[in-house]
Amino acid sequence: MPLPEQFIEQVKDANEISSVFASYLPLKRAGRDNVCLCPFHSEKTPSCHIYTDSQSFYCFGCGAGGDVINFIRLMEHLDYVESVKFLAQRAGIPMPDDGGDKTSMIKQRMLEINREAARFYRDVLISEKGREGWIYLRERQLSENTIRKYGLGYAPDEWGALKKHMLSKGFREQELIDAALLVRSQKSNNTYDKFRHRVMFPIIDRRGNIIAFGGRTLEPDAPAKYLNSDETAVFHKRSNLFSLNFAKNTKEKFLILCEGYMDVISLNQAGFDNAVATLGTAITPEQARLMRQYCEEVVISYDSDGAGQKATMKAINLLSDAGVDARVLQMTGAKDPDEYVKKYGPDGFRTLLRQAGGAISFELKKLTIGLDMDSPEGRASYLKKAIVLLAQVESRIDRMVYVSDTAKLCGMTPAEIEKAVEERRRYNSKTAQKQERQEIINPGRNSQTVRELNLSPEDKAQRGIIAFMLHSPDYLKRVEERITAEHFPTELYKKMYSIIANRIKNGDSLDISSIGDEFSAEEVGRITGIISENNLLPYQKERLYEYITVLEKYHDKYFGKKPEEMTDSELLEQMEKLRKEKTKKT
Ligand code: CTP
Ligand code: MN
Repeated sequence: MPLPEQFIEQVKDANEISSVFASYLPLKRAGRDNVCLCPFHSEKTPSCHIYTDSQSFYCFGCGAGGDVINFIRLMEHLDYVESVKFLAQRAGIPMPDDGGDKTSMIKQRMLEINREAARFYRDVLISEKGREGWIYLRERQLSENTIRKYGLGYAPDEWGALKKHMLSKGFREQELIDAALLVRSQKSNNTYDKFRHRVMFPIIDRRGNIIAFGGRTLEPDAPAKYLNSDETAVFHKRSNLFSLNFAKNTKEKFLILCEGYMDVISLNQAGFDNAVATLGTAITPEQARLMRQYCEEVVISYDSDGAGQKATMKAINLLSDAGVDARVLQMTGAKDPDEYVKKYGPDGFRTLLRQAGGAISFELKKLTIGLDMDSPEGRASYLKKAIVLLAQVESRIDRMVYVSDTAKLCGMTPAEIEKAVEERRRYNSKTAQKQERQEIINPGRNSQTVRELNLSPEDKAQRGIIAFMLHSPDYLKRVEERITAEHFPTELYKKMYSIIANRIKNGDSLDISSIGDEFSAEEVGRITGIISENNLLPYQKERLYEYITVLEKYHDKYFGKKPEEMTDSELLEQMEKLRKEKTKKT
């Protein structure tokens, strides 16, 4: 059910692209346009451009791009119609009547199921049946207020308590399985409650939807202490954080990243509304970028055990890749933040926060592990590694501070160490230059922009024709006199061309937001890239004819001749190509 074009235009007009971007990310002005750190891949210098005139964006680092609708599609993990709806809501424009589509209805229904399940678990918790759960949470010193604030609940020690309740509310068994609340037994084919004998933590996204649950067992020796919902249509654990619905409103400039739900809830109760946790996994790049949207800095507060410290290293790297400053909180006398604030109170924890050192001090300290710093060998071995690390610190002032710390630790003067660090930096920048040059000669996998410039003639031609059609649809006739979609060797471009050609014939709009309905979000990004690379060249018909000739020749070479007319090498090439096409499809 396509949305009326006029409506889409109205929604777009009401959502100026840079203001929509700005509600997620800090922007920097660049003339009439804006740039920002791309939210769709990790980077340290902004390569995502937001164009005011064309109301579009394009990231030169990862190729994401499109209009404001595509931005929302990628950012909010919504489909096309849902994104339009989202923007319509943002601007207060009512949806046309037939605007509801199937996937968004399924998602809505699943959120409703989760809401009802949370209500059920909570009602059990405060009833006689939930006594054990209630006592457990109270023994863990959670106040009634906190229990209510987080919507905590209890799943009784029964196989079908939730199932019975949900069926009585009119939800179907299959819907409950899809929502990951019921499990089907392999043996008997019966379904039963996934969560049993557990205190329940609703997982809520930043818009306030209950998207999943975490459950902590009350069995003394259960195989899994915590059990989380499986991924569903509404739950992507990679890109959500526990308690971000509260933390996003904090007045603090930093977020506190913890390992566990209980850490976050305890900290919240103690007045730290800026604590968040990952959802039973190590931190992901998506989560790091999500945090970057809400803070300038993250204080990593993982458990004080070995596993926590190892995870800290990983988090530092991911946060730094996402362009977030990280500090590391170091705890002694307690194993995790939950235990610490109970033992030493909010003031104790505030002191830890204040003392939390930068990621560099943490890494420098890590280097001493296993070394005897009292021996010259130990110090020398430390110093070698420390210099490599210090050379990577970009800020001169930071570097001076850490150099002086290191000097003290090794009993040397700062000047001596600084000299070694500067030498190392010169070496690094030479290596970097070399790599850059190498990249241009022989583009690597990570450099989209360079790779794009290195297109084969056929790719250039395919992309050029697509851009031409979007720019000057009147030329379609001339193109069709000579080639058809079949002349496009690449499936993706073939698809783009046919859709665009069809739209031109039907007189449909070629605006990127209207064609977005027929392409995936990634494809829209590719099209935006194609347009922007072609906009650098004049749209003259000579160029178009040249492209057509390239495709004609290519086609003749491979498909125009009968096999017996081909030279051996052409035949081999042809077979190889068909083989590749085949493997691509399977
Ligand atoms: N976790 C998990 N599965 C497990 C154990 C842990 O998914 N079997 C995840 C949970 O998200 C949990 C987090 O890892 O919140 C931290 O685990 P742990 O440190 O063991 O949790 P604590 O908060 O210390 O648990 P508790 O205080 O309830 O014992
Ligand atoms: Mn704990």
